Amino acid sequence: MNSKVVSPKKVAILISGGGSNMVSLAKSMMENAEDARLGRPCLVLSNVPTAGGVAKAADMGIATEVVDHRDFKGDREAFEQKLISVIDHYEPDVIAMAGFMRILTPTFISHYAGKMLNIHPSLLPKYKGLHTHQRAIEAGDAEAGCSVHEVTAELDGGPILGQARVPIMAGDTADDLAARVLVKEHLLYPAVLKRFLLGEKDLITL
Ligand code: GRF
Repeated sequence: MNSKVVSPKKVAILISGGGSNMVSLAKSMMENAEDARLGRPCLVLSNVPTAGGVAKAADMGIATEVVDHRDFKGDREAFEQKLISVIDHYEPDVIAMAGFMRILTPTFISHYAGKMLNIHPSLLPKYKGLHTHQRAIEAGDAEAGCSVHEVTAELDGGPILGQARVPIMAGDTADDLAARVLVKEHLLYPAVLKRFLLGEKDLITL
């Protein structure tokens, strides 16, 4: 019998907004017994003090921190050094970016090499960057979706670990499409995180 007990890996979740993806990740680790054996949310960090996700995380009993980028007045290096010192205090094994809207430098990314995931609301490699839904509609695409990828120095360019697709309907606005994609984000991200915690990196599609 294999009696080895492995403690759950610690997952820090970085947000800037409402935190719906953060909630779906945290809930999967806090409410699903199998996922809870693999990981636990050790920190939710926001760069926006008023981000709705901070209160949601606190209500769930998760440690929260705010590092406001505006306090650093454009000194990206100082901002990232502060981020690193706050995050490292919690000794996370994985950093999950969930709507964290700051571009990170190679210094930050290399500090957490191999440990960082991000969710992006497009079918990467299409539509890196912002305004993904509007761009997909304007291009006349028949479908859109979301991708979870490892974070590397190339913006939205690391290895893709999971994707989920939705149809684009006639007359869709960017908000209509964003809402349809977000439902899939909430399913995809916990599924990919679980596999990542198990060391599995082959692509999954929903
Ligand atoms: C999501 O669509 C995510 O893909 C994008 O920003 C949004 C964050 O939403 N990067 P939430 O804060 O998780 O609700």
